[in-house]
Amino acid sequence: MDKIKLAVVFGTRPEAIKMAPVILQMKKYPEYIDPCIIVTAQHRQMLDQVLELFGIIPDYDLDIMSERQTLFDINCKALAGLREVFEKASPDMALVHGDTTTTFAGALAAFYSRICVGHVEAGLRTGNRYSPFPEEMNRRLTGALAELHFAPTDTARDNLLRENIPDKAIFVTGNTVIDALQMTVKKDYVFSDEKIQKIIDEGKKIILLTTHRRENLGEPLRQVYRAVARILKEHEDVCIVFPVHKNPLVKDAAQEELAGIERTLLAEPLDYEPFVNLMARAYIVISDSGGVQEEAPSLGKPVLVLRNTTERPEAVEAGTVKLTGLSFENVYTDTKKLLCDEGFYKKMAGAINPYGDGEAARRIIQAILYQKGFIDKAPECFCIKDKNTV
Ligand code: UD1
Ligand code: UDP
Repeated sequence: MDKIKLAVVFGTRPEAIKMAPVILQMKKYPEYIDPCIIVTAQHRQMLDQVLELFGIIPDYDLDIMSERQTLFDINCKALAGLREVFEKASPDMALVHGDTTTTFAGALAAFYSRICVGHVEAGLRTGNRYSPFPEEMNRRLTGALAELHFAPTDTARDNLLRENIPDKAIFVTGNTVIDALQMTVKKDYVFSDEKIQKIIDEGKKIILLTTHRRENLGEPLRQVYRAVARILKEHEDVCIVFPVHKNPLVKDAAQEELAGIERTLLAEPLDYEPFVNLMARAYIVISDSGGVQEEAPSLGKPVLVLRNTTERPEAVEAGTVKLTGLSFENVYTDTKKLLCDEGFYKKMAGAINPYGDGEAARRIIQAILYQKGFIDKAPECFCIKDKNTV
């Protein structure tokens, strides 16, 4: 049987982090798989640090990022670029990941080129087309274009079944974010950034903050920043590390509301390795990120999610994630409660791992090999186990 030419298409930091284990896994089967790595570079610096960490060298790099880009910019450039790359490389299958505009453009370009689409991290839904925006719709549209769906959890699988995706096209694999985390978090990690090492050495309670969602830009994010500023004023044993997303709209608001406030470190985005190792040493995580919502529970860190909806209900149900929203009042009250109410903190800090067991990438590649007839057995499904920690 001929080898399968398997393209992996991605463009942003989280896609790269979550696809890295898949790419490493593909390389274990040179007799069956001819890999083709395509990046749109919807992100540039934030993408490149992940490529470097995992030693991934793209075969094609569309380099599309521009300052303050719009959804139209990303889509048009990615579609046009991918058309050419698909013509040249002519892969048998294209894997896309998650919910970004690169994901959707990648799936659409593959479909136009009559290339089979496999969707990694398929089936997550909030049920609200505008939240998160545009990610919920990117996921639904990619789901409609894909022929193979790698659902991280049973909940995601059930969402796909409700949309009439055939059962045999869905594989429950766990989320590759946990594969990447297990490769990267180390007990004795030493931070090369002196400011961060100093904060850790001081032994204060670290609140790790990240924000970036398009629907939260403007006043909602400012309310969050004002709430954490108030917390800092009232708690001298607390400090905040805030690696600020490169989006200028996030940067400007963060600077205006938080610069100069005592015990606040406003930093450039951290590289993935120091970031997750810092998360492992944080006391509380406050974030509107999807990936961070998945990582922190497995490190036993309470997460306050700065959103009103989530497509990741598993950790909310398990009690380690709380949907706090973005109002000043909610962010202030929930953070205060975590700092002052030990019982509440302990309840949220129980480490659980509903999103993966470190074997997701293996299951994804085995599912593809099975589906293409290279191996006889489909991989076992991922199932959630108690205390399945990193
Ligand atoms: C994108 C995704 C979002 C994902 C997030 C992860 C879409 C529509 N949005 O949002 O789903 O959760 O990535 O972080 O696909 N920038 C840089 N350097 C970088 C990255 C970004 O300067 O390495 C700046 C640029 O000015 C860019 C802006 O940030 O125009 C916004 O980037 P963009 O990819 O459009 O949106 P994100 O908010 O990053
Ligand atoms: N992350 C990182 N550096 C940071 C902030 C986040 O490496 O300064 C990682 C984080 O560990 C997670 C991913 O980036 O794996 C999440 O990306 P982001 O929040 O940008 O996007 P989302 O997951 O919301 O799509």
